[in-house]
Amino acid sequence: MKLSVLRELEDIETRVSATPESIKLIKRLGFEIFVEEGAGIKSGYYDKDYIEAGAQIVSRSECLKLKDVCLVVKMPSEKDISELSKNTILIGILDPYKNINLLKNLNDNSITSCCMELIPRISRAQSMDVLSSQANLAGYRSVIDAAEQFPKAFPMMMTAAGRINPAKVMVLGVGVAGLQAIATAKRLGAVVSATDVRSATKEQVESLGAKFIMVDSEKIDNETSGGYAKEMSEDYKKKQSALIAETLSKQDIVICTALIPGKKAPTLISKEMVESMNAGSIIVDLAVESGGNCPLSKIDEIVEHNGVKIIGYGNVPGRVSKDASSLYSKNIYNFLSLMINKEEKTIKIDWEDEIIKSVVLTYGGSIKLDNFK
Ligand code: NAI
Repeated sequence: MKLSVLRELEDIETRVSATPESIKLIKRLGFEIFVEEGAGIKSGYYDKDYIEAGAQIVSRSECLKLKDVCLVVKMPSEKDISELSKNTILIGILDPYKNINLLKNLNDNSITSCCMELIPRISRAQSMDVLSSQANLAGYRSVIDAAEQFPKAFPMMMTAAGRINPAKVMVLGVGVAGLQAIATAKRLGAVVSATDVRSATKEQVESLGAKFIMVDSEKIDNETSGGYAKEMSEDYKKKQSALIAETLSKQDIVICTALIPGKKAPTLISKEMVESMNAGSIIVDLAVESGGNCPLSKIDEIVEHNGVKIIGYGNVPGRVSKDASSLYSKNIYNFLSLMINKEEKTIKIDWEDEIIKSVVLTYGGSIKLDNFK
Protein backbone atom coordinates (compact mmCIF):
# COMPACT_ATOMS: atom_id res chain seq x y z
CA MET A 1 0.00 0.00 0.00
CA LYS A 2 1.25 3.48 -0.86
CA LEU A 3 0.35 6.78 0.79
CA SER A 4 1.23 10.31 -0.31
CA VAL A 5 1.23 13.59 1.65
CA LEU A 6 0.66 16.73 -0.41
CA ARG A 7 2.06 20.19 0.36
CA GLU A 8 -0.69 22.79 0.91
CA LEU A 9 -0.62 25.47 -1.78
CA GLU A 10 -2.69 28.28 -0.21
CA ASP A 11 -0.55 30.88 1.59
CA ILE A 12 -2.90 30.91 4.59
CA GLU A 13 -2.73 27.12 5.02
CA THR A 14 0.23 26.55 7.31
CA ARG A 15 -0.72 23.04 8.42
CA VAL A 16 0.35 19.66 7.04
CA SER A 17 -1.69 16.46 7.02
CA ALA A 18 1.05 14.15 8.34
CA THR A 19 3.92 14.80 10.74
CA PRO A 20 7.07 12.68 11.14
CA GLU A 21 5.43 11.24 14.26
CA SER A 22 2.24 10.18 12.45
CA ILE A 23 4.30 8.84 9.52
CA LYS A 24 5.91 6.35 11.91
CA LEU A 25 2.46 5.17 13.02
CA ILE A 26 1.08 5.00 9.47
CA LYS A 27 4.14 3.01 8.36
CA ARG A 28 3.28 0.38 10.96
CA LEU A 29 -0.10 -0.07 9.26
CA GLY A 30 1.85 -1.33 6.24
CA PHE A 31 2.16 1.77 4.05
CA GLU A 32 5.09 2.92 1.97
CA ILE A 33 5.06 6.70 2.44
CA PHE A 34 5.85 9.54 0.02
CA VAL A 35 5.89 13.18 1.19
CA GLU A 36 5.92 16.12 -1.22
CA GLU A 37 9.07 18.18 -0.91
CA GLY A 38 8.65 20.98 1.66
CA ALA A 39 5.20 19.78 2.78
CA GLY A 40 5.84 20.36 6.49
CA ILE A 41 8.04 23.47 6.44
CA LYS A 42 5.32 25.93 7.46
CA SER A 43 4.54 23.77 10.51
CA GLY A 44 8.16 23.36 11.51
CA TYR A 45 8.60 19.82 10.13
CA TYR A 46 11.49 19.45 7.70
CA ASP A 47 12.11 16.98 4.88
CA LYS A 48 14.98 15.40 6.83
CA ASP A 49 12.59 14.69 9.75
CA TYR A 50 10.25 12.84 7.37
CA ILE A 51 13.16 10.87 5.91
CA GLU A 52 14.27 9.89 9.43
CA ALA A 53 10.71 8.76 10.14
CA GLY A 54 10.87 6.46 7.11
CA ALA A 55 9.25 8.48 4.31
CA GLN A 56 10.58 9.29 0.84
CA ILE A 57 10.58 12.90 -0.37
CA VAL A 58 9.20 13.30 -3.90
CA SER A 59 7.80 15.98 -6.23
CA ARG A 60 4.11 16.94 -6.36
CA SER A 61 3.55 15.23 -9.71
CA GLU A 62 5.05 12.00 -8.32
CA CYS A 63 2.79 12.23 -5.27
CA LEU A 64 -0.29 12.67 -7.46
CA LYS A 65 0.62 9.66 -9.59
CA LEU A 66 0.72 7.31 -6.60
CA LYS A 67 -2.18 5.01 -5.82
CA ASP A 68 -3.99 4.01 -2.64
CA VAL A 69 -4.19 6.98 -0.23
CA CYS A 70 -3.51 10.72 -0.55
CA LEU A 71 -3.54 12.99 2.52
CA VAL A 72 -4.27 16.72 2.41
CA VAL A 73 -5.42 19.46 4.75
CA LYS A 74 -7.65 21.28 2.23
CA MET A 75 -9.33 20.22 -1.04
CA PRO A 76 -6.75 20.04 -3.89
CA SER A 77 -7.25 22.16 -7.03
CA GLU A 78 -9.20 21.01 -10.09
CA LYS A 79 -5.88 20.39 -11.89
CA ASP A 80 -4.51 18.28 -9.01
CA ILE A 81 -7.72 16.24 -8.89
CA SER A 82 -7.46 15.52 -12.61
CA GLU A 83 -3.86 14.32 -12.10
CA LEU A 84 -4.60 12.16 -9.06
CA SER A 85 -4.31 8.46 -9.80
CA LYS A 86 -7.72 6.80 -10.36
CA ASN A 87 -9.27 4.99 -7.36
CA THR A 88 -7.15 6.92 -4.85
CA ILE A 89 -8.66 7.48 -1.40
CA LEU A 90 -8.37 11.22 -0.70
CA ILE A 91 -8.58 12.24 2.99
CA GLY A 92 -8.80 15.86 4.16
CA ILE A 93 -10.92 18.74 5.44
CA LEU A 94 -12.63 18.94 2.07
CA ASP A 95 -15.30 21.58 2.87
CA PRO A 96 -18.05 20.21 0.59
CA TYR A 97 -20.23 23.34 0.95
CA LYS A 98 -17.52 25.52 -0.53
CA ASN A 99 -16.19 22.93 -2.98
CA ILE A 100 -19.43 21.49 -4.32
CA ASN A 101 -18.27 22.11 -7.92
CA LEU A 102 -15.23 19.87 -7.43
CA LEU A 103 -17.20 16.83 -6.31
CA LYS A 104 -18.00 16.00 -9.94
CA ASN A 105 -14.27 16.15 -10.76
CA LEU A 106 -13.54 13.73 -7.91
CA ASN A 107 -16.16 11.33 -9.28
CA ASP A 108 -15.01 11.69 -12.86
CA ASN A 109 -11.61 10.50 -11.69
CA SER A 110 -13.06 7.69 -9.50
CA ILE A 111 -11.63 9.22 -6.31
CA THR A 112 -13.06 8.02 -3.00
CA SER A 113 -13.05 11.21 -0.95
CA CYS A 114 -13.29 11.26 2.84
CA CYS A 115 -14.25 14.46 4.54
CA MET A 116 -12.74 14.64 8.03
CA GLU A 117 -15.10 17.37 9.26
CA LEU A 118 -18.01 14.94 8.80
CA ILE A 119 -16.70 12.52 11.46
CA PRO A 120 -19.75 11.84 13.64
CA ARG A 121 -19.61 13.11 17.22
CA ILE A 122 -19.86 9.71 18.89
CA SER A 123 -17.53 8.41 21.62
CA ARG A 124 -15.82 5.89 19.29
CA ALA A 125 -14.86 8.67 16.88
CA GLN A 126 -13.55 11.20 19.40
CA SER A 127 -9.92 10.49 18.51
CA MET A 128 -10.72 11.31 14.85
CA ASP A 129 -12.70 14.49 15.51
CA VAL A 130 -10.89 17.26 13.61
CA LEU A 131 -13.53 19.86 14.43
CA SER A 132 -12.74 19.41 18.11
CA SER A 133 -8.96 19.16 17.80
CA GLN A 134 -8.74 22.29 15.66
CA ALA A 135 -11.43 24.31 17.51
CA ASN A 136 -9.63 23.68 20.78
CA LEU A 137 -6.45 25.32 19.44
CA ALA A 138 -8.46 28.13 17.80
CA GLY A 139 -10.06 28.92 21.16
CA TYR A 140 -6.64 29.11 22.80
CA ARG A 141 -5.12 31.22 20.03
CA SER A 142 -8.06 33.67 19.94
CA VAL A 143 -7.18 34.79 23.46
CA ILE A 144 -3.48 35.08 22.61
CA ASP A 145 -4.37 37.15 19.51
CA ALA A 146 -6.58 39.39 21.66
CA ALA A 147 -3.79 39.81 24.22
CA GLU A 148 -1.37 40.84 21.47
CA GLN A 149 -3.64 43.72 20.38
CA PHE A 150 -4.95 44.66 23.87
CA PRO A 151 -3.17 47.73 25.25
CA LYS A 152 -3.53 46.52 28.85
CA ALA A 153 -2.52 43.53 30.98
CA PHE A 154 -4.78 40.54 31.74
CA PRO A 155 -4.15 39.84 35.45
CA MET A 156 -4.80 42.10 38.41
CA MET A 157 -1.48 43.53 39.63
CA MET A 158 -0.78 45.35 42.88
CA THR A 159 2.27 47.52 42.35
CA ALA A 160 3.93 50.31 44.33
CA ALA A 161 2.73 52.69 41.63
CA GLY A 162 -0.86 51.55 41.90
CA ARG A 163 -3.28 48.78 41.06
CA ILE A 164 -3.97 47.34 37.63
CA ASN A 165 -7.48 45.94 37.27
CA PRO A 166 -7.94 42.51 35.65
CA ALA A 167 -9.18 42.38 32.05
CA LYS A 168 -12.85 41.51 31.58
CA VAL A 169 -13.33 38.85 28.91
CA MET A 170 -16.66 37.66 27.55
CA VAL A 171 -17.02 34.51 25.43
CA LEU A 172 -20.03 34.21 23.10
CA GLY A 173 -20.71 30.55 22.28
CA VAL A 174 -19.40 27.84 24.57
CA GLY A 175 -18.60 24.86 22.34
CA VAL A 176 -15.10 23.39 22.11
CA ALA A 177 -13.41 26.68 21.09
CA GLY A 178 -15.36 28.75 23.64
CA LEU A 179 -14.46 26.45 26.54
CA GLN A 180 -10.76 26.60 25.65
CA ALA A 181 -10.98 30.40 25.30
CA ILE A 182 -12.49 30.61 28.80
CA ALA A 183 -9.78 28.36 30.24
CA THR A 184 -6.99 30.35 28.52
CA ALA A 185 -8.35 33.75 29.60
CA LYS A 186 -8.73 32.47 33.19
CA ARG A 187 -5.13 31.19 33.17
CA LEU A 188 -3.98 34.66 32.12
CA GLY A 189 -5.85 36.15 35.08
CA ALA A 190 -8.92 37.71 33.41
CA VAL A 191 -12.39 37.92 34.90
CA VAL A 192 -14.42 35.81 32.47
CA SER A 193 -18.10 35.54 31.62
CA ALA A 194 -19.76 33.52 28.85
CA THR A 195 -23.08 32.88 27.17
CA ASP A 196 -24.61 30.21 24.95
CA VAL A 197 -28.10 29.26 23.81
CA ARG A 198 -27.63 25.72 25.14
CA SER A 199 -28.37 25.62 28.86
CA ALA A 200 -26.18 22.48 29.17
CA THR A 201 -23.14 24.76 28.90
CA LYS A 202 -23.91 26.54 32.22
CA GLU A 203 -22.26 23.84 34.32
CA GLN A 204 -19.22 23.65 32.02
CA VAL A 205 -18.70 27.43 32.17
CA GLU A 206 -19.04 27.51 35.94
CA SER A 207 -16.67 24.56 36.38
CA LEU A 208 -13.98 26.69 34.71
CA GLY A 209 -14.59 29.49 37.21
CA ALA A 210 -16.38 31.81 34.78
CA LYS A 211 -19.78 33.48 35.15
CA PHE A 212 -22.63 32.17 32.98
CA ILE A 213 -25.07 34.65 31.49
CA MET A 214 -28.10 33.46 29.54
CA VAL A 215 -31.53 34.51 28.32
CA ASP A 216 -34.15 32.98 30.59
CA SER A 217 -35.63 30.39 28.22
CA GLU A 218 -36.49 27.26 30.15
CA LYS A 219 -39.30 26.35 27.77
CA ILE A 220 -37.22 26.75 24.61
CA ASP A 221 -35.81 23.62 22.95
CA ASN A 222 -32.53 25.12 21.76
CA GLU A 223 -30.31 22.07 21.24
CA THR A 224 -30.35 19.37 18.52
CA SER A 225 -30.05 15.68 19.44
CA GLY A 226 -26.40 15.92 18.27
CA GLY A 227 -25.66 18.60 20.90
CA TYR A 228 -25.53 21.50 18.42
CA ALA A 229 -27.35 24.83 18.68
CA LYS A 230 -30.53 25.49 16.70
CA GLU A 231 -31.31 28.77 15.04
CA MET A 232 -33.27 30.78 17.62
CA SER A 233 -36.69 32.47 17.26
CA GLU A 234 -36.97 36.22 16.58
CA ASP A 235 -38.26 36.75 20.14
CA TYR A 236 -35.25 34.92 21.62
CA LYS A 237 -32.86 36.86 19.37
CA LYS A 238 -34.32 40.17 20.65
CA LYS A 239 -33.94 39.11 24.29
CA GLN A 240 -30.42 37.84 23.67
CA SER A 241 -29.45 41.03 21.88
CA ALA A 242 -30.63 43.14 24.85
CA LEU A 243 -28.67 40.91 27.25
CA ILE A 244 -25.47 41.10 25.19
CA ALA A 245 -25.83 44.87 24.68
CA GLU A 246 -26.10 45.38 28.43
CA THR A 247 -23.08 43.22 29.24
CA LEU A 248 -20.81 44.15 26.34
CA SER A 249 -20.20 47.80 27.20
CA LYS A 250 -18.45 46.67 30.41
CA GLN A 251 -16.11 44.21 28.65
CA ASP A 252 -12.51 44.69 27.50
CA ILE A 253 -12.33 41.64 25.24
CA VAL A 254 -15.03 39.61 23.51
CA ILE A 255 -14.32 36.24 21.91
CA CYS A 256 -17.02 35.20 19.42
CA THR A 257 -17.33 31.49 18.61
CA ALA A 258 -21.07 31.00 17.98
CA LEU A 259 -21.86 28.70 15.05
CA ILE A 260 -24.91 26.83 13.76
CA PRO A 261 -23.87 23.83 11.61
CA GLY A 262 -24.67 24.31 7.91
CA LYS A 263 -25.99 27.88 8.41
CA LYS A 264 -24.56 31.38 8.50
CA ALA A 265 -23.18 32.22 11.95
CA PRO A 266 -25.68 34.16 14.11
CA THR A 267 -25.19 37.93 14.33
CA LEU A 268 -24.67 38.68 18.02
CA ILE A 269 -22.80 42.01 18.11
CA SER A 270 -24.29 44.94 16.15
CA LYS A 271 -22.40 48.06 15.06
CA GLU A 272 -24.17 50.00 17.85
CA MET A 273 -22.95 47.49 20.42
CA VAL A 274 -19.37 47.91 19.17
CA GLU A 275 -19.83 51.67 19.54
CA SER A 276 -20.89 51.20 23.18
CA MET A 277 -17.53 49.58 24.02
CA ASN A 278 -14.51 51.48 25.36
CA ALA A 279 -11.72 52.47 22.97
CA GLY A 280 -8.93 49.89 23.23
CA SER A 281 -11.38 47.00 23.57
CA ILE A 282 -10.91 43.93 21.37
CA ILE A 283 -13.35 41.63 19.60
CA VAL A 284 -12.02 38.36 18.14
CA ASP A 285 -14.52 36.91 15.67
CA LEU A 286 -13.68 33.23 15.30
CA ALA A 287 -16.93 32.79 13.33
CA VAL A 288 -15.69 35.13 10.58
CA GLU A 289 -15.27 32.35 8.00
CA SER A 290 -18.96 31.43 8.46
CA GLY A 291 -20.23 34.99 8.09
CA GLY A 292 -19.15 36.30 11.50
CA ASN A 293 -20.88 37.02 14.83
CA CYS A 294 -20.18 40.72 14.24
CA PRO A 295 -21.10 42.32 10.88
CA LEU A 296 -18.02 44.57 11.03
CA SER A 297 -15.49 41.74 11.04
CA LYS A 298 -13.59 40.95 7.84
CA ILE A 299 -11.67 37.79 7.00
CA ASP A 300 -7.92 38.13 7.60
CA GLU A 301 -8.18 41.73 8.74
CA ILE A 302 -8.11 43.74 11.92
CA VAL A 303 -10.85 46.33 11.49
CA GLU A 304 -10.78 49.34 13.83
CA HIS A 305 -14.14 50.94 14.61
CA ASN A 306 -14.40 53.77 17.17
CA GLY A 307 -11.15 52.61 18.77
CA VAL A 308 -12.36 49.00 19.07
CA LYS A 309 -10.29 46.44 17.18
CA ILE A 310 -12.21 43.58 15.56
CA ILE A 311 -9.89 40.68 14.71
CA GLY A 312 -11.07 38.41 11.89
CA TYR A 313 -8.14 36.09 11.26
CA GLY A 314 -8.93 33.13 9.01
CA ASN A 315 -7.50 29.67 9.68
CA VAL A 316 -6.84 30.36 13.38
CA PRO A 317 -5.75 26.75 14.12
CA GLY A 318 -3.05 27.34 11.47
CA ARG A 319 -1.69 30.11 13.73
CA VAL A 320 -0.56 27.28 16.02
CA SER A 321 0.48 25.20 13.01
CA LYS A 322 2.83 22.71 14.67
CA ASP A 323 0.31 21.57 17.28
CA ALA A 324 -2.62 21.86 14.86
CA SER A 325 -0.80 19.58 12.37
CA SER A 326 0.18 17.18 15.12
CA LEU A 327 -3.43 16.76 16.32
CA TYR A 328 -4.88 16.71 12.79
CA SER A 329 -2.42 14.04 11.65
CA LYS A 330 -3.31 11.87 14.67
CA ASN A 331 -7.01 12.30 13.81
CA ILE A 332 -6.19 11.08 10.29
CA TYR A 333 -4.10 8.14 11.53
CA ASN A 334 -6.95 6.99 13.79
CA PHE A 335 -9.41 7.26 10.89
CA LEU A 336 -7.08 5.50 8.45
CA SER A 337 -6.64 2.61 10.93
CA LEU A 338 -10.36 1.88 10.51
CA MET A 339 -9.81 1.14 6.82
CA ILE A 340 -6.95 -1.32 7.22
CA ASN A 341 -6.93 -5.06 7.75
CA LYS A 342 -4.04 -5.13 10.20
CA GLU A 343 -3.13 -8.82 9.72
CA GLU A 344 -3.12 -8.75 5.93
CA LYS A 345 -1.89 -5.13 5.75
CA THR A 346 -4.43 -4.32 3.05
CA ILE A 347 -7.12 -1.68 2.64
CA LYS A 348 -10.45 -3.17 3.65
CA ILE A 349 -13.29 -0.73 4.01
CA ASP A 350 -16.39 -1.67 5.97
CA TRP A 351 -18.98 0.41 4.13
CA GLU A 352 -21.51 -0.29 6.89
CA ASP A 353 -19.33 1.29 9.59
CA GLU A 354 -21.15 4.38 10.92
CA ILE A 355 -17.98 6.49 10.83
CA ILE A 356 -17.08 5.51 7.24
CA LYS A 357 -20.68 6.03 6.08
CA SER A 358 -20.72 9.55 7.53
CA VAL A 359 -17.38 10.63 6.11
CA VAL A 360 -17.33 9.33 2.53
CA LEU A 361 -18.31 12.07 0.13
CA THR A 362 -17.69 10.51 -3.28
CA TYR A 363 -17.37 6.82 -4.05
CA GLY A 364 -17.85 4.70 -7.17
CA GLY A 365 -19.13 7.61 -9.23
CA SER A 366 -21.81 8.77 -6.81
CA ILE A 367 -21.90 11.76 -4.49
CA LYS A 368 -23.18 11.01 -0.99
CA LEU A 369 -25.19 14.19 -0.77
CA ASP A 370 -26.86 13.10 2.45
CA ASN A 371 -23.54 13.50 4.21
CA PHE A 372 -23.44 17.23 3.96
CA LYS A 373 -27.04 18.41 4.12
P1 NAI B 1 -20.14 24.82 17.29
O1 NAI B 1 -18.78 25.15 16.79
O2 NAI B 1 -21.16 24.32 16.33
O3 NAI B 1 -20.77 26.14 17.97
C1 NAI B 1 -20.07 26.83 18.98
C2 NAI B 1 -21.04 27.22 20.08
O4 NAI B 1 -21.87 28.30 19.67
C3 NAI B 1 -21.99 26.10 20.52
O5 NAI B 1 -21.81 25.86 21.90
C4 NAI B 1 -23.37 26.67 20.22
O6 NAI B 1 -24.34 26.24 21.14
C5 NAI B 1 -23.10 28.15 20.31
N1 NAI B 1 -24.12 29.01 19.68
C6 NAI B 1 -24.77 28.83 18.50
N2 NAI B 1 -25.64 29.84 18.28
C7 NAI B 1 -25.51 30.71 19.33
C8 NAI B 1 -26.12 31.94 19.68
N3 NAI B 1 -27.08 32.47 18.92
N4 NAI B 1 -25.77 32.53 20.84
C9 NAI B 1 -24.82 31.97 21.64
N5 NAI B 1 -24.21 30.81 21.37
C10 NAI B 1 -24.54 30.18 20.24
O7 NAI B 1 -20.05 23.85 18.53
P2 NAI B 1 -18.96 22.75 18.87
O8 NAI B 1 -17.80 23.37 19.49
O9 NAI B 1 -18.73 21.97 17.65
O10 NAI B 1 -19.73 21.86 19.95
C11 NAI B 1 -21.08 21.49 19.77
C12 NAI B 1 -21.48 20.35 20.67
O11 NAI B 1 -20.83 19.16 20.30
C13 NAI B 1 -21.19 20.56 22.13
O12 NAI B 1 -22.31 20.05 22.85
C14 NAI B 1 -19.99 19.70 22.39
O13 NAI B 1 -19.93 19.29 23.75
C15 NAI B 1 -20.34 18.53 21.49
N6 NAI B 1 -19.15 17.75 21.13
C16 NAI B 1 -19.23 16.39 21.19
C17 NAI B 1 -18.13 15.62 20.86
C18 NAI B 1 -18.21 14.13 20.91
O14 NAI B 1 -19.07 13.59 21.54
N7 NAI B 1 -17.32 13.45 20.22
C19 NAI B 1 -16.88 16.22 20.42
C20 NAI B 1 -16.93 17.67 20.38
C21 NAI B 1 -18.04 18.39 20.70
